[in-house]
Amino acid sequence: MFDFSDIATKYDDFYSTDLGKDIDIVEKRLVRSMIEPLPRNLSLEIGCGTGHWTEFFSSLGFPLIAIDISEKMVQVAQAKDISQAMFFVKDAENMDFRDNYFTNVFAITALEFMDNLDRAISQIYRVLKTGGYFFVGALNANSPYIKSKMERTDSSIAHSHPFTPETLRSLLSVFGRPEIKAGLVIEEGKIQDRDKEIDEQVALSQGAFLVGVVQKTK
Ligand SMILES: C[S@@+](CC[C@H](N)C(=O)[O-])C[C@H]1O[C@@H](n2cnc3c(N)ncnc32)[C@H](O)[C@@H]1O
Repeated sequence: MFDFSDIATKYDDFYSTDLGKDIDIVEKRLVRSMIEPLPRNLSLEIGCGTGHWTEFFSSLGFPLIAIDISEKMVQVAQAKDISQAMFFVKDAENMDFRDNYFTNVFAITALEFMDNLDRAISQIYRVLKTGGYFFVGALNANSPYIKSKMERTDSSIAHSHPFTPETLRSLLSVFGRPEIKAGLVIEEGKIQDRDKEIDEQVALSQGAFLVGVVQKTK
């Protein structure tokens, strides 16, 4: 497992760069479009890291428990003093929450860093209420941008196991009928969908960021 503790205090620096700011705009637009209809009841965020997305979920009105296996990442998140959010150092593969406890579970670029994905999924299934929602944001293995990052040993992405739209759909199908979208088409360092929607098939085959939501009906 890649240990994010070593880069915890530098992790958010990327979001201050021009590219990082633009990526954030596209990803948040996509995430917001998928989670806006979800109920604002107790939600769990797994692999919350520095709380970058916790802050966003909180701003949309979701009360949250956010967990990460890295104590250093959780310390950075805690220092942000995000309203309606409580942080804990916990392993998503071995959670001690009660069955059927959360209305929503969120995971952003977290599942592809788990040691044992099956174990994490069965834990998420257990703690999510029937009728609740599981939302995933993930790296798209089809994206040329992600492929180039996978080749660089200095990138944490090189230590991940990205999804394709098909593998994410299959993973979420355990819960019910998923909806999958993608965005963040990056060509020659420029984001093609920074200010406009792009064709859905182009996004799924080239976009760096996959999103999927599923209601637990099974
Ligand atoms: C790429 S970072 C993403 C952080 C945050 N979700 C974001 O998008 O900014 C992946 C995070 O998953 C965490 N992680 C990896 N395996 C985990 C596990 N088994 N349980 C909880 N967190 C885990 C890492 O410590 C790291 O903070």
